[in-house]
Amino acid sequence: MSFPSALPVRIDETEIRALPKAEVHVHLEGSFALVDLLELAKQNRVALPGPAATLFDISTHDAFSSPAVTTGGGAGAGSAGLTGFLRFLDWQCGLVRTREQAARVAYAFAARQSASGIRYSDVIVNPTHWNTWHGRELDLLDALTGGFDDAQSDGLCIANIAYSLLRTQGATEAEDIVRAVTGARARRVVALSVDGDEKVAGRTGERFRDAFGLAAASGLHRTVHAGESSGPDGVWDALDLLQAERIDHGVRAIEDPALVQRLVDEDISLGVCPRSNVTLGIYRSWPEHPLPQLLAAGIRVTLNTDDPATMGTTLEADWAVAAEQFGFTRDDLVGFARRSIEASFADDDLRRDLLAELVDVAGSPEDPRPAEAE
Ligand code: ADE
Ligand code: ZN
Repeated sequence: MSFPSALPVRIDETEIRALPKAEVHVHLEGSFALVDLLELAKQNRVALPGPAATLFDISTHDAFSSPAVTTGGGAGAGSAGLTGFLRFLDWQCGLVRTREQAARVAYAFAARQSASGIRYSDVIVNPTHWNTWHGRELDLLDALTGGFDDAQSDGLCIANIAYSLLRTQGATEAEDIVRAVTGARARRVVALSVDGDEKVAGRTGERFRDAFGLAAASGLHRTVHAGESSGPDGVWDALDLLQAERIDHGVRAIEDPALVQRLVDEDISLGVCPRSNVTLGIYRSWPEHPLPQLLAAGIRVTLNTDDPATMGTTLEADWAVAAEQFGFTRDDLVGFARRSIEASFADDDLRRDLLAELVDVAGSPEDPRPAEAE
């Protein structure tokens, strides 16, 4: 009996978990464990929008189904689309009503990240989803920070917060938020972000220019969702108007060669989340995802989950699938781990320590970008 010689080599998830790494594009709102969500619904006597066992099958719940946004002419199978997905996050976060509940969500996030071998996260928090905290956003941040503090004391993943505006918020509101957050010196808030549905909101670069300018002047980092449901325009605006240091998603930059060159020249890293893009119908399937082309073009890429619990995945599962689909070797994955630490907004000492630990575990890692792109 003969075997085909070119079978893709499956990299065991245990090996991936063992790599010290960071995750830089992950939403707290998309990281609620099913068990915690059911408990919160019970505590608040709130009815579930669908059966408990399939609560994360969002497209099957009438309350959240909406047409998927696609670039390739087709939706991911059964996708609720980005709009329905974001509405589900509103429902989930609306169940968090006390400081204790918020702290518990933060602690559980850190524990979940640790279980994937993630040592540091820039976690995106968008308070507009947490509807019982409107007007009390600083209290929410404080409660979450308490949970992250406890997690760190217990040796779990270290998390800092990227405070995210929603694309549909107004310019003045956004500026007021930045002034409040920086004025309060909210601990663990290291960056300003903007997320939400670019396609629904339209082009919003000008609207948020001053808020991001204030953030930069106050020493906050900047990371911007763009090039997901919008095309390359959103990425241009993020660079030209919002002083973005990183782009969340950014995958549709591949449609514009001049933009690709700009990302390479300025060494802007893209926080790519292939499973999320397929789940939300941005691309029809993993093989249609442009991750290999982005790498071949020489763009710095990190590989992330976006909303892991809600999408029923883990970082190690997504890295294993990416390796299988795109032919990444173990050295490539070590390179992704290195890139994740380098791209993170962790302080210099922590980044240096994590990189040293990675070398201890994996040897001197190779760059995941193909040699010809260097
Ligand atoms: N918030 C949570 N997940 C998101 C996504 N994929 N795009 C925009 N905003 C989000
Ligand atoms: Zn995201």
